[in-house]
Amino acid sequence: MSDLEFQTDFRPDEDFAIAMDERDALKDFRERFFFPTIGGGDGVYLCGHSLGLQPKTAGEYIEQELKEWAELGVEGHFHAKNPWMPYHRLLTEQTAELVGAKPLEVVVMNSLTVNLHLMMVSFYRPTKGRNKIVVERGAFPSDRYAVESQIRFHGFDPATALIELTPLPGENCLRDAEIDALIERSGDEIALIMLGGVNYATGQAFDMARITRLGHARGCVVGFDLAHAAGNLPVKLHEWGPDFAVWCSYKYLNGGPGCVGGCFVHERHARAWDLPRFAGWWGHDERSRFEMGPEFRAMPGADGWQLSNPSIVSLAVLRASMEIFHEAGMGRLRAKSVSLTGYLEFLLNQKASAGFSIITPCEQERRGAQLSIRIRENGRAFCKRLAREGIVGDWREPDTYRVAPVPLYNSYLDVFRFVRRFVAAIG
Ligand SMILES: Cc1ncc(COP(=O)(O)O)c(C=O)c1O
Repeated sequence: MSDLEFQTDFRPDEDFAIAMDERDALKDFRERFFFPTIGGGDGVYLCGHSLGLQPKTAGEYIEQELKEWAELGVEGHFHAKNPWMPYHRLLTEQTAELVGAKPLEVVVMNSLTVNLHLMMVSFYRPTKGRNKIVVERGAFPSDRYAVESQIRFHGFDPATALIELTPLPGENCLRDAEIDALIERSGDEIALIMLGGVNYATGQAFDMARITRLGHARGCVVGFDLAHAAGNLPVKLHEWGPDFAVWCSYKYLNGGPGCVGGCFVHERHARAWDLPRFAGWWGHDERSRFEMGPEFRAMPGADGWQLSNPSIVSLAVLRASMEIFHEAGMGRLRAKSVSLTGYLEFLLNQKASAGFSIITPCEQERRGAQLSIRIRENGRAFCKRLAREGIVGDWREPDTYRVAPVPLYNSYLDVFRFVRRFVAAIG
């Protein structure tokens, strides 16, 4: 792919957007998704950071499993075209590739918050002197609830055991130096550093390699919530070395509402049989799972944290979407994403007004596809008005409008049309 194709010196006219779309090598992927028809079909969907679009092949993948269930009944577990017993494994290679892991290190299962709890059961082992968990201020509420409940579960008090990394006064995002300083200052007391790969509200991407290195140097366990990073940024979990990571598949990965989530456990823990864990039969050694013995023997690697047999229908959709994702390739998607989000920022900055400001970092290595826009007044009503016209971003209290041009299916013209309508509406 030439530099020209995804250039970053932009022009503000519509012809520029059209020309960029014409030479976009990924442009045909757009045709493989259903676009919502709200707003009379004249809308712009920039909400893949919240719920990705439906791949047109999803229906076929589900149909296949429904047909086999109808025809084979229980026999489908072993005799379906893709037997359901090991079905989740059809996703292992692509999932490993997506997050830069070894196949042994990843599994698709449950949903994000469930996986986060399972990981903390094993990896948050507080002691009297080392019991603190570090989160970013403004972490997604579910993460915060999960973390606080784990602290309480172990008999500690979130008032003292929860450390929130907070931006400097007057700033929206965290500086690396603040994170480094906290780890340096309090590392001996920190049991777990648990940050988002990309913060859901500000769109700030964290330097996961550096945080992991510094955290480990001080004896802390390190985990990440990749809900807004998986499928958005290139991630190298094995190389960076966090102890665990969890993510959902319904945002950039287009697996559909409530789709099964993902989980990474670093290879160094693959055979740590003495780690405490909550067990279920699907994590049991598959060679003897159906002997139904009373004694639990975990599978090596991330598979050993599974609890239940998974929803095949949900996995089927994920297969449909991951195949498209794999075809497009994270490298190419990221190259387009840097350009597309840069273009969005460029157009918004052309129309800068007192009514709004971008709070996401402007450096490309500190963000993914999403831009978070602070709306000074009546933002919620503004956002609803845009939604009625089919302009779909989303609103996060108290004042943030989030939009993400997704490189897999959004175009430069989408971005152009969004900014035109956004600016006209904000006045
Ligand atoms: C950053 C983040 N963490 C956690 C969650 C919760 O995910 P789930 O409902 O799959 O547990 C979300 C959901 O949007 C999220 O954005």
